[in-house]
Amino acid sequence: MREQSFFRQFMIASPDVVFVTGDIAETPCLQELLHDMQHAIEVPLYFVLGNHDFYHGSIETVRRVVQEWCVAQPGLHYLSASGLTELTPTTVLIGHDGWGDGRYGDYWASPVRLSDQELIRDFQGLDREAVLSKLRALGDESALHLREVLTKAVDSYQQVMCLIHVPPFKEACWYEGEMGNDDWLPYFTCQAAGEVLLDVMQTRPDCHVTVLCGHTHHAGAVQMLPNLRVVTGPADYGMPCISDVLEIP
Ligand SMILES: [Fe+2]
Repeated sequence: MREQSFFRQFMIASPDVVFVTGDIAETPCLQELLHDMQHAIEVPLYFVLGNHDFYHGSIETVRRVVQEWCVAQPGLHYLSASGLTELTPTTVLIGHDGWGDGRYGDYWASPVRLSDQELIRDFQGLDREAVLSKLRALGDESALHLREVLTKAVDSYQQVMCLIHVPPFKEACWYEGEMGNDDWLPYFTCQAAGEVLLDVMQTRPDCHVTVLCGHTHHAGAVQMLPNLRVVTGPADYGMPCISDVLEIP
């Protein structure tokens, strides 16, 4: 019933395309839900995956399966496995899942333990040091992808839309109107991705990038550079909704 209400919101908004910034489902029902959503909204759906999407699965396997499956799903586009997607002659879309890479905040002092470490196979049985190594590797993987696609994007387009599940800056890691604290930041920001965004966009003041994130469940926006804006959408478990309707130039 909640899904039907969600889909009705799309009929009213009547978008040309839809962006989804992750935490869509859990692995066993991820493809079914993506399929149902895309068929209900009847427009191209561009998405990245969040940590919840890997629950009861493994990150590499889920990413590969979803990438291969999307080849036969013409309306579904997984951005972590994509290059540049032109939206208009001046605007391009890129993205990656991202991951909280343990770099912001105080990982070693933090008492926080996400369900990720029990429910995602990659983390099961790892000690604290090995978990941190894995978090950093996942963040670095996102940064590598973003550097490649963002560098190409600003060479050919004036506007870039970038989807990443995990906010790339602590200033964009909102919790009830405040910035996340040192206990949560290690898991809720992808510093490696943020450094790439700053690095590339500082060299191209003539281009603008808008970064759309999920993960924190709290809404906020921050202007990191005159040409780099980061927006985080709100979310409640089991209550999907449209965060915003954007005009793409
Ligand atoms: Fe998440």
